[in-house]
Amino acid sequence: MKKFAVAVDGPAGSGKSTVAKEIAKALGILYIDTGAMYRTVGMACLKKGINPADEDAVVASLDSLDMKIFPEAGGQRILLDGEDITSRIRTEEIGKAASSVAAYQKVREKLVEIQQGLAKEQSVIMDGRDIGTKVLPDAEVKIYLDASVEERAKRRVGELEAQGKTADLETIREEIAQRDYQDMHRENSPLCRAEDAVNVDTTGLDIPAVTEKLLALIAEKTK
Ligand code: DC
Repeated sequence: MKKFAVAVDGPAGSGKSTVAKEIAKALGILYIDTGAMYRTVGMACLKKGINPADEDAVVASLDSLDMKIFPEAGGQRILLDGEDITSRIRTEEIGKAASSVAAYQKVREKLVEIQQGLAKEQSVIMDGRDIGTKVLPDAEVKIYLDASVEERAKRRVGELEAQGKTADLETIREEIAQRDYQDMHRENSPLCRAEDAVNVDTTGLDIPAVTEKLLALIAEKTK
């Protein structure tokens, strides 16, 4: 089969990464989670005591960023300073730091270059906020995944409860709405649907249903 790229964009909690991972497995292609890279930069700042709101300090720290990405079948591992932080970056605190550092042009330039490099040689499904618009503007398939903020908050609470943590729905809803606002209203590569992306609303749909829908769409666009 010819090499192809699938760009999946959408707001926090729309199901992008879970579904993209399933699709990567089903099609035997590489999955690249770009949000994890912004989270790693956010975590690196917190680790060094840098305020994510301090653009100059964040940008200055990029030179010493030791981040390594290992795409694997159906997933991706990420190392910071040699330490596997793949699961440790999944907190709301790091999500917020990621959203702050993602607003800076120099951070985006560095990460976009890495992302484009990873997609050069092989078929990929990549998820994020600017994949269809900036990272892979020529992607054969572009999908914009969305869901109501209520539904996304409920899913997040479910995930946290599954990990044995307690979570307040209203607080989570507020955090998600704030992060959406920040990601959609920044100057550099704000979250928006590419003109040629297919909009898929996942409200009320479970993972297998969304996966099936997207696989059909990819088959159609790559035949
Ligand atoms: O998808 P996520 O929640 O892991 O992403 C974390 C933050 O990183 C998100 O709030 C916005 C930012 N991000 C971005 O600006 N561009 C991307 N391609 C991916 C993520």
